[in-house]
Amino acid sequence: MTAVADDEPPTIAELTRFQQDGRAWVATDDADAPVAYLLVEVVDDDAHIDQVSVHPSHARQRLGAALLDTAAVWAQRRGLAALTLTTYTEVAWNAPYYTRLGFAALTDDQLGRGLRRIREQETARGLARWPRVTMRRPLDLARRASPIGTSRVG
Ligand SMILES: CC(C)(COP(=O)(O)OP(=O)(O)OC[C@H]1O[C@@H](n2cnc3c(N)ncnc32)[C@H](O)[C@@H]1OP(=O)(O)O)[C@@H](O)C(=O)NCCC(=O)NCCS
Repeated sequence: MTAVADDEPPTIAELTRFQQDGRAWVATDDADAPVAYLLVEVVDDDAHIDQVSVHPSHARQRLGAALLDTAAVWAQRRGLAALTLTTYTEVAWNAPYYTRLGFAALTDDQLGRGLRRIREQETARGLARWPRVTMRRPLDLARRASPIGTSRVG
């Protein structure tokens, strides 16, 4: 999946837009260095996870799950109904992982206009060469508390 690995990260300008809008969260280590981040945008009246990434040195410490819970709390406060994301079906830490966190796959007819556009853009960027799926987690199923607390994810 070289095209995925080579896909450009967001630019500083793009990250700044999320940050200034209060739609970016970072988890930091004990030295306050960032080790994981999550970006959200509102798409079709749901909170869409634009990106969630954990540095490999801090993988499998539930930082990804905690960031998703933080986004869920943010979305609930805004009156949004669900978290959504697009991901790879056959990558162990993508769709199978999100399924365990309460996300379920949407069929093509369940996609709103915004999610449909995102899938088209991903295809144009060459990211759809491997099976991809759009997933949604209703917020009433979301776990309430962040297991690592808000002092490390903020
Ligand atoms: C997906 C991602 C954000 C998960 O973050 P995380 O903090 O490591 O996840 P959590 O600690 O909450 O959960 C870990 C679970 O993910 C799965 N997982 C993580 N790394 C894995 C690996 N190398 N192989 C198999 N499963 C893996 C396992 O189910 C694991 O649970 P376990 O530790 O009990 O076995 C992180 O793996 C990542 O940044 N991946 C690269 C970027 C990416 O794919 N982003 C998502 C795009 S949709």
